[in-house]
Amino acid sequence: MTSPENLAYSPAGAAQIGVIGMAVMGSNLARNFASKGHTVAIYNRSPEKTRAVIAEHGSEGAFIASETIEEFVASLERPRKAIIMVQAGPATDAVIAQLCDAMEEGDIIIDGGNALFTDTIRREREVAARGLNFVGAGISGGEEGALHGPSIMPGGPAQTWETLGPLLESISAKVDGVPCVTHIGPDGTGHFVKMVHNGIEYADMQVISEAYHLMRYAAGYEPGQIADVFAEWNRGDLDSYLIEITAEVLRQKDRRTGKPFIDIILDAAGQKGTGRWTVKEALDLGVPVTGIGEAVFARALSSALAQRQAAQDGGLPAGTLSTLEQLGIEPGDFVEDVRRALYASKLVAYAQGFDEINAGSMEHDWGINPGDLARIWRGGCIIRAKFLNRITEAYENEPTLASLLLDPYFKRELEGLVDSWRRVVVVATQLGLPVPVFASSLSYYDSLRAKRLPAALIQGQRDFFGAHTYKRIDMEGTFHTAWSGDREELDY
Ligand code: ATR
Repeated sequence: MTSPENLAYSPAGAAQIGVIGMAVMGSNLARNFASKGHTVAIYNRSPEKTRAVIAEHGSEGAFIASETIEEFVASLERPRKAIIMVQAGPATDAVIAQLCDAMEEGDIIIDGGNALFTDTIRREREVAARGLNFVGAGISGGEEGALHGPSIMPGGPAQTWETLGPLLESISAKVDGVPCVTHIGPDGTGHFVKMVHNGIEYADMQVISEAYHLMRYAAGYEPGQIADVFAEWNRGDLDSYLIEITAEVLRQKDRRTGKPFIDIILDAAGQKGTGRWTVKEALDLGVPVTGIGEAVFARALSSALAQRQAAQDGGLPAGTLSTLEQLGIEPGDFVEDVRRALYASKLVAYAQGFDEINAGSMEHDWGINPGDLARIWRGGCIIRAKFLNRITEAYENEPTLASLLLDPYFKRELEGLVDSWRRVVVVATQLGLPVPVFASSLSYYDSLRAKRLPAALIQGQRDFFGAHTYKRIDMEGTFHTAWSGDREELDY
């Protein structure tokens, strides 16, 4: 073991927790544990990174730095608890294999990376076969969260929570004194809910961006003015981390040119994959997460730069466009409508995300408590927002709520939002400005509340070309019409 001068010598088995992977997230998490008074074992494949952490932050708390995985494991108190914070994928599997060889029965391996939940289910099975415990833990909050208090979503065997719980509670964010961490459920649940959390984050970011775009290009506001609007919104129902940082980004001036920072950024959004996973999984579960889906596709379209250029060069017809002035709409009134459209679309994104979580929980028999989730997302994570309190209350009042939108509080809120939401989608369309999530969320909302859907026609078509049968509204049974014959209705 390394014993840098600024560290007291620590005996084997002295560390309450270990962190593997000293890149930004791992080192910040280790420092967070140390700052809460825990002795933290640290290890990184390349020892330089470990040495750098000790050199720069060794004085912040009690670290035990190791240069081999065996030394690292030996430095942990039993049952040993090691959090893996390395690159997702094969690197995680490699580290798990090393830990399995070095650890003993009852020890706990925690994967704090952004693993796909099906990988977590597989890993839990493999690790359990070796007599060890495996906990897939979603950790949200970025670099700052890891250092000062993230929202943590651990899955895995329930008994691991007894020893792991207090440790994770000590480093998590707190809201009203309540830690933003809880045991989510068995095997892959932690990474499953983290995945959907990220999907909701995609939709949340996209609706904020659509609101910005309309203020800029419909209402004609300058970035600084829009920053003021977002700062104002952040004092009301929309109070959230993402709205807060949006105001900061929009207020920023480019250091090189003095122009608004927003104007010098290439408008091609990147993605690492958790939004896409959320949508793929929703497709398999048959849960419409249209807001999240449109948000993922909006990023993809923004990044299709060659195709976008070709469309501009090709001069795709815009049809007849209007301006706000021509439509007789005051910019200030429109901006208030936009705030309401944002709020309504955001409600839909959360409602759809929770639908996916509930469907996943049913499918895998996980028993996830949606109210608990909203509670631990109130602080630390990227989607932290004031209104998550309301979601917790909604599920506390009615755990089997058919849709979050049907909670009495949210229903009342929607009453005050729907007309504005409709106006914004209409006006954006008349101005030729894209609002994929505002518009698709409104369509979802109208589909949900519709007495009749055009699905009846789809059933008729399916029966016509493929004898796929249909059900009737007025009697039990399954039917087929003999379309190519005498069009008699047959029982199936
Ligand atoms: P970040 O995005 O925070 O920089 P990352 O790319 O997700 O981090 O992960 C980088 C970490 O994974 C590093 O600690 C890296 O170790 P090195 O510093 O030795 O490169 C670790 N890592 C990547 N592949 C690994 C492997 N096969 N075995 C062990 N650790 C590995």
